[in-house]
Amino acid sequence: MYGSAINTIAVLPRAPVNGSPVPGLTSLYHKAFAGPYGDRRYPGNCSGELIKDLLRYFRPQRVLDPMTGSGTCADVCREIGIECVSFDIREGRDASDPQSYQGLGAFDFVWIHPPYWRQKLYTADPRDLSAAGTLEAFLERYQSLLTCLNDQLRPGGQMAVLMGDYADRDAGFVPLVYHTQRLCFGLGLRQRATQIIRFSHGASSSRRTYRSSFIPGLHDVCTIVEKPFPNQR
Ligand SMILES: C[S@@+](CC[C@H](N)C(=O)[O-])C[C@H]1O[C@@H](n2cnc3c(N)ncnc32)[C@H](O)[C@@H]1O
Repeated sequence: MYGSAINTIAVLPRAPVNGSPVPGLTSLYHKAFAGPYGDRRYPGNCSGELIKDLLRYFRPQRVLDPMTGSGTCADVCREIGIECVSFDIREGRDASDPQSYQGLGAFDFVWIHPPYWRQKLYTADPRDLSAAGTLEAFLERYQSLLTCLNDQLRPGGQMAVLMGDYADRDAGFVPLVYHTQRLCFGLGLRQRATQIIRFSHGASSSRRTYRSSFIPGLHDVCTIVEKPFPNQR
């Protein structure tokens, strides 16, 4: 019975008219097309459209993406003419290590799309967050990552973290979005805007059949935080 409803069209609430330079950017990110950015075949590839809308909204001059995967953020920045520094553990550079940032200077926007712990294994490098053997080990490396990014962010700059909750075979349901907020707030970062619920169009898990019973998660969450100026703390 419910199966027949899977492809019905959901009506979204109406967004209020306001002075935003990107009126279509709301807390519900539903665009089903990814744009010509990065490589859709790369595991965990995300749509460049959300990144583009965030950059058009916040208008930064220097962007950092140290978990670049197929280069989606760098492609968007190239198109709209913003400097972007990006790297990935696949090139041997660890985003959780402060040494990886030596000489890079400050950034006014950070885009980060980390592994959702071990939902997908990206590399065999033990420093890869997706290779962490326990949740504790993952969270430790995640905290180091966010600490490094906070250090690179200039006061008044924003960081957008795309993360999803994850049901692990051993650890059960892992609220990674909660941990993202918890760790960011612990560093003194402040939430800058509503969380953005990004609809997971094209997720490989949506095409699979499972014997077990669960409530499918069809979204991930972009949390946007800002580094306060010293006198705001
Ligand atoms: C979810 S994917 C990012 C996908 C990217 N947003 C895209 O659209 O292609 C996460 C990336 O984090 C990288 N990664 C994992 N641990 C890392 C680390 N310690 N340092 C740098 N990159 C890491 C993985 O290799 C993977 O490419």
